[in-house]
Amino acid sequence: MKINGFTIWLTGLSGAGKTTIAEKLCLALNKRQVPCETLDGDVIRENLSKGLTFSREDRDINVLRIGFVAALLSRNGVGVIVSAISPYQEARQQVRAKIKNFIEVYIKCPIEECERRDVKGLYKKVRSGALTGFTGISDPYEEPRHPEIICFTDTETVEISVNKIISYLEEAGYLP
Ligand code: PPS
Ligand code: ADP
Ligand code: MG
Repeated sequence: MKINGFTIWLTGLSGAGKTTIAEKLCLALNKRQVPCETLDGDVIRENLSKGLTFSREDRDINVLRIGFVAALLSRNGVGVIVSAISPYQEARQQVRAKIKNFIEVYIKCPIEECERRDVKGLYKKVRSGALTGFTGISDPYEEPRHPEIICFTDTETVEISVNKIISYLEEAGYLP
């Protein structure tokens, strides 16, 4: 039997919760015997996209590369979870058009809360002037217009956010 692959594409600001949700979601899918792979922006940039900058051009190249891998995996029955800022609407549309069973999830969190969390100390660096062109502060983030799912991570727990995505997958018939 051919299993339905799919791609869950988590987009949102730095610190919004993409990586946390991706990891928890992958564990939940594995529990249900769904083969799953995560493609995280930070990890991709150390490997497949090593050397790319955070210019618009390089961010778009990065997103298209991630989309290419996601398409290969998902067409072979893998549940792919992408966690990348992917700030530009046009690049997200391009990957959506190339991937079957594409589910865009907006990991929505006010920038003030992302900065309060400051998981990696990057916002501090931005405020000190050591980091420029930072998404949401000195670089654009174009909000998704019609995401399949929105996770409000300033008011929802991680479990609620993960369950929202699982419920969507169940209703769409993607889970065994
Ligand atoms: S993109 O825009 O989709 O190509 O970005 P992505 O590949 O997801 O990489 C984002 C991670 O890089 C770190 N970082 C920055 N983010 C935004 N803007 C700037 N200038 C920047 N410099 C470094 C940051 O850790 C991002 O990871 P997350 O997990 O989102 O915090
Ligand atoms: P990103 O990958 O988007 O930069 P991270 O997952 O690295 O974000 O960090 C998000 C932080 O926010 C973590 O410390 C996580 O525990 C916290 N957090 C609080 N509520 C949520 C939620 N509902 N979903 C995801 N993360 C949350
Ligand atoms: Mg992350």
